[in-house]
Amino acid sequence: MKKSIKKAEIGIIGGSHMENFLESFQKTRIGTPYGLPPIVYLGEISKRKVAFIPRHGPDHSIPPHLINYRANIYALHLLGVKRIIATNAVGAINPELKPGELLTPHDFVDFTKHRKLTFYDSKVVHVDFSVPYCPEIRSALVESGKKVGTEILDKAILVCTEGPRFETPAEIEAFRRLGCDIVGMTGIPEAVLARELGICYATLCYVSNMAAGMQRKITPSEVGEVASKIRPLMEQVLRETIGILPHERNCPCKDALKNAQFK
Ligand code: HPA
Repeated sequence: MKKSIKKAEIGIIGGSHMENFLESFQKTRIGTPYGLPPIVYLGEISKRKVAFIPRHGPDHSIPPHLINYRANIYALHLLGVKRIIATNAVGAINPELKPGELLTPHDFVDFTKHRKLTFYDSKVVHVDFSVPYCPEIRSALVESGKKVGTEILDKAILVCTEGPRFETPAEIEAFRRLGCDIVGMTGIPEAVLARELGICYATLCYVSNMAAGMQRKITPSEVGEVASKIRPLMEQVLRETIGILPHERNCPCKDALKNAQFK
């Protein structure tokens, strides 16, 4: 039997309550030197080959601190993916933001603690993060938002915490003083690992709640309620974005590994 060649150009990493995305797909498992990621779904949108990974597993069973971020990103790399669009639920630290709003952050602060954060353990590689997220994907997201009639804010600093607990009010106040706008538990090291392989990466975030201290209590079911309302719109934005991304990459991400190795 002829072996099917599994390839994809664009990767989508689905966050909480976004465990599937493609309407018609082929399921596959992809082993990597870093372990086995969750099931990967392969399909096509606007004639572009797309691979979808549910970050927390198809049944949402993997907590943020135990996600095998390296396996997920490496599996997409093995498929030939050159661009990744992630989705993340986030809490709003900036009081001007409200649940249901969409953003694509331009920068991040990393407050994770115990994660495998690099592919380069046996050589010294310092990847540049002066432009932390792919500008080309971010502008395609914003453009797509306009097309489907929603605003996607493109200036926001995301702080990534270790979880799985939500933050304390004092932590959120500290992050606010640092200039952070939104908080989530899964954006890092994903963005870092993608860049380490020269893959473009940006994330489409939805505000699911006001961060700790800004509302009485935060519950996962509240995150789920906002997610189920916003999901059709997020999917529309993602489909539109996939359709308008230029075929050639014109961003600094593809050159991320040039001059990155310490000699
Ligand atoms: N904190 C961290 N992660 C989150 C939050 C939050 O308030 N909401 C959704 N993901």
